Amino acid sequence: MTRPLVVGNWKMNLDYVEAVHLTQQIGVILKNKPLEHVELVVVPPFVDLRSVTSVVESERIAVGVGAQHASRHEAGAHTGEVSVSMLQRLNVAWVLVGHSERRAMYAMTDVVVAQTLRTVLGQGLNGVLCVGEELSIREAGRQDDFVTAQLHDALEGLDETSRPLVTIAYEPIWAIGSGLTATTEQVREMTEHIRTVASSLSLGQVRVLYGGSVNAENAASLMTEGRVDGFLVGGASLKAESFLTISQAANDCYDGKR
Ligand code: 13P
Repeated sequence: MTRPLVVGNWKMNLDYVEAVHLTQQIGVILKNKPLEHVELVVVPPFVDLRSVTSVVESERIAVGVGAQHASRHEAGAHTGEVSVSMLQRLNVAWVLVGHSERRAMYAMTDVVVAQTLRTVLGQGLNGVLCVGEELSIREAGRQDDFVTAQLHDALEGLDETSRPLVTIAYEPIWAIGSGLTATTEQVREMTEHIRTVASSLSLGQVRVLYGGSVNAENAASLMTEGRVDGFLVGGASLKAESFLTISQAANDCYDGKR
């Protein structure tokens, strides 16, 4: 089992003052109870990044910092966009790519997802590729084909240096923010499927995360029975206690399985 990764996607929540506060709370809890095995990443809104990375560095908090999106372009006339090199300059080491909210609400097509992922990885940042089906596709039993296509579109032909920087997050759209978590069986089947497809695309060692209404109560069973390598957490990452309880569950499961 690979070292677990727990990523907190704050979405469009918390201004920079609130973001600093949450980061400090995470730092305090981690100092009292360090997580031996889990890698933690917080993903604040763009405008919070500078403040959050400063606090993480000055207070030596054991979390990585990520961005929720990045431009696929390197620089230039792209009003409203943020480039990967700007993120890199802030010591942002992670970028979410193709979150379903960006795909659905901001017209992020599979082609744009693939281009963005290449820009992110090409500059040496870690990319968390988000995939997952909507409810109608699940009800029609077509989720495997759908996710296969998303993976092929994004990952085909990645070069050798880029591949180790990829993490895949399976986030069924119907489970996001709905309180409706996928069953551990659904998660296990899909993570196994994703590993098979990833391996056919030469990404044998890739970490597969689950996201969608993960909370302090369901994290342990999703980890052990769902056989994921960690989580992409939305709502429950906005409170230090719940985020770290989820992370602790991932840590304990890893400990038990070694
Ligand atoms: P929730 O945990 O709020 O369902 O959000 C999941 C998600 O979209 C994380 O990226």
